[in-house]
Amino acid sequence: MVKSRLIAELKTYFADDQKRINHALKVTEFAEKLIIRFKQKYPSANINEQIIIYSAVLHDIGIKNAELKYNSSAGHYQEIEGPPVAKKIMQSLDIDFEMMDEIAEIIGHHHSPGKVGSNNFKILYDADWLVNLPDIYELNACTSAEIQTKIDKIFLTEIGKELAAELYLPAEKN
Ligand SMILES: [Fe+2]
Repeated sequence: MVKSRLIAELKTYFADDQKRINHALKVTEFAEKLIIRFKQKYPSANINEQIIIYSAVLHDIGIKNAELKYNSSAGHYQEIEGPPVAKKIMQSLDIDFEMMDEIAEIIGHHHSPGKVGSNNFKILYDADWLVNLPDIYELNACTSAEIQTKIDKIFLTEIGKELAAELYLPAEKN
């Protein structure tokens, strides 16, 4: 299965950087949850599950070279450094060319919403934010209204917003 081979490559590439490996695996899990919800909500919409899942596994792969080359993990550098590394890994697994190009494009823009308009991109973007939201913001110190405002502003899909609200809004407010 390509997904497990990609995860093996990810682990080899990040070696002892368990934090990054765990992040990618969590994003992949959320991407899978969002795919199920998306298909339930929009049965005739056009998404490619493999593209979303492979993008989720590889989305932050550029961070290592960004830190090595620029001493920075800023999103902009990750977007530059990610696609070539991702392509190299995907080529070694014989992933279809067209699919590879779309995955590289998603990885190359995953900190820049609005540039790639596909559902595949939006689902990966929201899966990443489902993991990042509590890491970046002190949600415990926010009111429900503040959390809801962040969710509405950040997430690109309705299903992403719904899952974020289920996970991060205090239960009594749901
Ligand atoms: Fe990420």
